Amino acid sequence: MTVTLDNTDVDPARVAALTERERARLAERTRRSGELFARAGAVMPAGVPSQFQKADPWPVYVDRGDGARVWDVDGNEYADFHNGFGVMCVGHANPVIAEAVKRRMDAGTHFAAPTEGSIVVAEELRRRWGLPQWRFTNSGTESTMDAVHLARGATGKDVIVKIEGTYHGHHDAVMVSVKPPADLMGDRDRPNAVPYGLGYPSTTASQTRPVPFNDADALERLLDELEGQVAGVILEPAMMNINIVPPVDGYLQRVRELTAERGLVLIFDEVKTGAAVAAGGATELFGVTPDVVCLAKAICGGLPGGAVGMTDELGALVASGQVRQQGTFNGNPLVMAAAEATLLEVLTDEGYAKLHKLNEDLMAGCDRIISEYKLPAHTVGMGSKGCVVFSSEPIREYRDYLTKIHHDLTNLAWLYHMNNGIFMTPGEDEEWTLSVMHTDEHLKRYLEVFEMFARDVTSVD
Ligand SMILES: Cc1ncc(COP(=O)(O)O)c(C=O)c1O
Repeated sequence: MTVTLDNTDVDPARVAALTERERARLAERTRRSGELFARAGAVMPAGVPSQFQKADPWPVYVDRGDGARVWDVDGNEYADFHNGFGVMCVGHANPVIAEAVKRRMDAGTHFAAPTEGSIVVAEELRRRWGLPQWRFTNSGTESTMDAVHLARGATGKDVIVKIEGTYHGHHDAVMVSVKPPADLMGDRDRPNAVPYGLGYPSTTASQTRPVPFNDADALERLLDELEGQVAGVILEPAMMNINIVPPVDGYLQRVRELTAERGLVLIFDEVKTGAAVAAGGATELFGVTPDVVCLAKAICGGLPGGAVGMTDELGALVASGQVRQQGTFNGNPLVMAAAEATLLEVLTDEGYAKLHKLNEDLMAGCDRIISEYKLPAHTVGMGSKGCVVFSSEPIREYRDYLTKIHHDLTNLAWLYHMNNGIFMTPGEDEEWTLSVMHTDEHLKRYLEVFEMFARDVTSVD
């Protein structure tokens, strides 16, 4: 049977057969990973340090990385477009970062007392984002947790409004309606708050309320309904965990107005966009400044760290200790050394110009293949990040992603990439991230593999 997807004849049986073939190939090519997986399962749930690394039939265990390349434990070489979930815009083993970290290593790595490095990094973040006050954290989860505390501390209210389908880390307040199943999510006009897993107090869902992305009217209705209860609104200015969903024109401006009018704290979660889509992240790109910005991932060049930027008013609550923002490793000198080198020496104006050019070229190459093979797909991208979305209609929110994306094609494309030397984020949840160490050669390889996939999937026997 042939199902017509838009202009394309894609035979589901063909997709299923190719998927089975490619799955078997992946297992065959990554046998050593399979052995490690068997060993790891005895000491780590699902054989992985973090649930996000779980994969079928097993995760590909990585041995090392250099520049834009990684090698797995079976010796397979890949051009890396996964880039550590968007952390490694600097490239692997970047000599500038390595030198800065080694220097700091020799001078002591931890004192739990401030060092000058934290001031230098905070000054650079202030320059990039325009927010005056900064504190450091150890991850994106901590950054958004601190942001929620700030919102509640500043307003004395409990409820946090978030976007349906976004992930903001794994603390209670935001583990709601992250990937709600279709049968539990309720009406679009009044989405249910669905806990993401077990282990949160039963009151959590009532204190975190979801709204659809890109719909300022829906946000306005909810804020009116919850008048007097809401502390703040947290959102990714561009959604980055259902491929990439950019904000529609005027959306962020309206969100800014609606929150400001009501005295609510507006939090931008820029854990993924920060320093990756522009020097000042999505805040710079879309020209809307929130009250709090959450950063992590790309700002520390591969070391685990994060930061929270805030207004002077919110900073005063932290300074006085009314809102507790603290941690043994906050502003750790090793992490600060990596962040300083990343922000001041690698992700410079030239670095961003290179990333943007590479990204545009890669998207243009994918667009050409999509059009030539009439694939039901389109590209979306910004800064160092982009993706092929297997839908011929634009995706504006989580519910579009559930219903409009050809999930089988997305997964098959991932298998083709992995089996042909392109290390990619799995499935339809993610995007590619480029580094300053990528070159046209890496792009060429990506496009060759994507074309091979397009040809195989659309060819008629
Ligand atoms: C948008 C966003 N916010 C927060 C987080 C949590 O960051 P971390 O994994 O560093 O805790 C993530 C992680 O992927 C994220 O994508």
